[in-house]
Amino acid sequence: MSFPWADEYRPNNGFMRWMDERLPLPRLVWNSVGGGYPVPRNLNHFWNFGVLAGIALTIQIVTGIILAMHYAPTAGGAFESVEHIMRNVNQGWLLRYAHANGASFFFIVTYIHIFRGLYYGSYKAPREMVWLLGLVIFLLMMATAFMGYVLPWGQMSYWGAQVITGLFAAIPVVGEPIQQWLLGGFAPDQASLNRFFSLHYLLPFVIAGVVVLHIWALHIPGSGNPTGVDVKSPQDTIPFHPYYTAKDGFGVGLFLIALALVLFFAPNFLGHADNYIPANPLSTPAHIVPEWYFWPFYAILRAFTVDFILPAKLWGVIAMFASIIILFFLPWLDRSPVRSGSYRPLFRMFFIILCVDVLILGWCGGLPAEEPFVMISQAATIYYFAHFLIILPIVSAIEKPLPLPNSISESVLHGEKAEAAPVGVQPAPAE
Ligand code: HEM
Repeated sequence: MSFPWADEYRPNNGFMRWMDERLPLPRLVWNSVGGGYPVPRNLNHFWNFGVLAGIALTIQIVTGIILAMHYAPTAGGAFESVEHIMRNVNQGWLLRYAHANGASFFFIVTYIHIFRGLYYGSYKAPREMVWLLGLVIFLLMMATAFMGYVLPWGQMSYWGAQVITGLFAAIPVVGEPIQQWLLGGFAPDQASLNRFFSLHYLLPFVIAGVVVLHIWALHIPGSGNPTGVDVKSPQDTIPFHPYYTAKDGFGVGLFLIALALVLFFAPNFLGHADNYIPANPLSTPAHIVPEWYFWPFYAILRAFTVDFILPAKLWGVIAMFASIIILFFLPWLDRSPVRSGSYRPLFRMFFIILCVDVLILGWCGGLPAEEPFVMISQAATIYYFAHFLIILPIVSAIEKPLPLPNSISESVLHGEKAEAAPVGVQPAPAE
């Protein structure tokens, strides 16, 4: 979808015109995030989070590249090199804290972005591909974060690598060879650290590539909106620039303030104290726990305690991967033609229960695997799968949605007459 005048784009400065005739980059930008991209006029602040995820990815890449200039990926020197960054490199402490906390903030904004999609039905036609590519990004983010956490070579780095690669050892017959192949040895060591560093450097650029596809796929149907009603006329939309550049700018400001507060006042709040102890293969920490953003998945992994046909550990691994794979099928599990949860009372109730369920899983995942937390994780795991496999298909079949507005403008303007197009956004006429 584009504005009728999008093809008439004429840059109004000489250099841009020269450029546009030779390499139409200015046109691409104008049509993607400029006045030529029409966006529903009713987007709320939950639509800020895609841009925020992009900002977080950029922060990770920039800080990561500079950190890599001072980091040594050797089992004997990695921990020391991180201490060197913290103490001797100019602003090294800031770079390192920004990268470590930046990862947490990346996950916070991405989780909000995903749950926005779950509530407003952003995964439904015609945006299935946007959703599926988003999930690919999410899997890549998880792999990148896991490998990054190994690099400081502290106690949690080492034992985290041991536990997570050990999951693959649960696969019958080929499991142990796979674990050895991943680690490059029988336990985490120099070979593991080298390959994790190499992949940790590579994957963010792969993520950036998939983000381009994600946004490309989004620009084919155009953005969804809180009503879930399709754009029906130009009155339903406003140009991305200046309206959403301003709204996103406000979101970016708040995001940076929140990140700065954590960086300057509580930089270790989201980390684990044990990672300030150098890796020691002879001393297992009492309680091995991944970073907070993995806790819901860790709880699902540990919810399986009884061998049944397959070993309990293997069930845990299968369930953990299945909890993400199931999201790939979501567009076909939820058959309701109504997208937005705002018009689906029953769906909304179960959505809220799902949010609480995931928070409970996260809470249990951060605690030791003992009662009553294991039992609570088991109940929450059952509910998680039931939500997608049983509740959603049934709800979408039986629910009677609330009446939808006739159009986006109607829902925003409550009967007032819509203006034609906002003044001053048309491109300068051709000379
Ligand atoms: C690096 C991570 C990501 C970046 C930079 C990113 C970027 C964006 C941007 C800029 C938008 C348009 C603005 C908005 O709707 O917020 C968007 C939309 C969307 N994203 Fe993402 N995204 C990321 C991850 C994900 C993930 C993990 C998912 C889901 C699993 C996802 C699903 C969606 C969907 C469904 C939309 C369309 C929403 C709509 O228009 O209704 N994204 N994304």
